[in-house]
Amino acid sequence: MVTRVTPDLSVQLGRLHLAYPTLMGSGCYGSGIEYAPFVDLARIGAVVLKSVTRQPRLGNPTPRLVHTPAGMLNAIGLQNPGIAWYLEHDVAKYADRPCAMVGSVAGFSIDDYAYVCERLAARAEIDAIELNISCPNVASEGETFACDPALTAKVVRAARATTDKTLIVKLSPNVTDIAAVAREAEAAGADALAVINTVRGMAIDVEAWRPRLGNVTGGLSGAAIRPIAVLAVYEVARAVRIPIVGQGGIETVTDALEFFLAGASAISIGTANFTDPRTPERIVAGLSEYLQRRNLTRIGAIVGRANRGFANRQEYEGDQG
Ligand SMILES: Cc1cc2nc3c(=O)[nH]c(=O)nc-3n(C[C@H](O)[C@H](O)[C@H](O)COP(=O)(O)O)c2cc1C
Repeated sequence: MVTRVTPDLSVQLGRLHLAYPTLMGSGCYGSGIEYAPFVDLARIGAVVLKSVTRQPRLGNPTPRLVHTPAGMLNAIGLQNPGIAWYLEHDVAKYADRPCAMVGSVAGFSIDDYAYVCERLAARAEIDAIELNISCPNVASEGETFACDPALTAKVVRAARATTDKTLIVKLSPNVTDIAAVAREAEAAGADALAVINTVRGMAIDVEAWRPRLGNVTGGLSGAAIRPIAVLAVYEVARAVRIPIVGQGGIETVTDALEFFLAGASAISIGTANFTDPRTPERIVAGLSEYLQRRNLTRIGAIVGRANRGFANRQEYEGDQG
């Protein structure tokens, strides 16, 4: 008789231990609590909260969303109430959270990132911090932090100095060498990397002869970007030893498996939640089934297995089961 053990799906991201390797992408799942009537939040790993900035932001002019084949363009413009209001009114609601809460920090200067990171990380309700560094740096002619390895190093170092909590740095695909940025983020003290944020894009209304987004350009997400994201994870996994949270167009368990095999230790689900908020539950069940079918006892056993140059070998060394 074959006895099936329930595979271990847990993952360690720095000091943060997650029972499930599924995170909800920033800006795509609220605080998670809104979904509690429909979804068993205890069966997801973590919710990454909407990015928060030092000052309140009204966001971009509308329209902010455009449907595209196999995905969507968004240009929300980081609408948020600012860190002071956020700490006073929002964060306390997460005290009884059923899953981990990852605060997301955005900014327009190194000082902004350090300031918001320090205040957010100081709260017990926040389990870890993600740095959304796909923002322009006002001090250097608007260059995007994540597009410059040296600027990435500076902002990560500044945030790192403010907290011992797990620091996840979210990389942008809008670069020529994502591995170079990843190495700098790791050297500057990141505990994990989120790979990838949205891909720059644009759509035009051919009757009105103008861009369809109020902001003109936006970020493409959803299934359309999945192959770009898988490649990015594959390349970053060869460059660093810290864990990767793979994301970009994950809708099914097969999609998720591609990311683990490319070298991600965990995955994040964003756009797919808009059409089916139960996507994370489906994927967790599917991962469990897949590992059982292949007689594997833990998710770490498949991390990087399709990536021959994968550096992070401690993930699966010695696991035959
Ligand atoms: C409407 C929308 C809002 C988003 N807001 C944020 C945000 O505030 N901060 C951030 O780091 N990423 C944000 N993202 C990016 C997602 O978290 C995710 O990294 C990206 O969409 C790729 O994953 P997906 O294809 O599964 O959505 C947003 C994405 C969408 C679609």
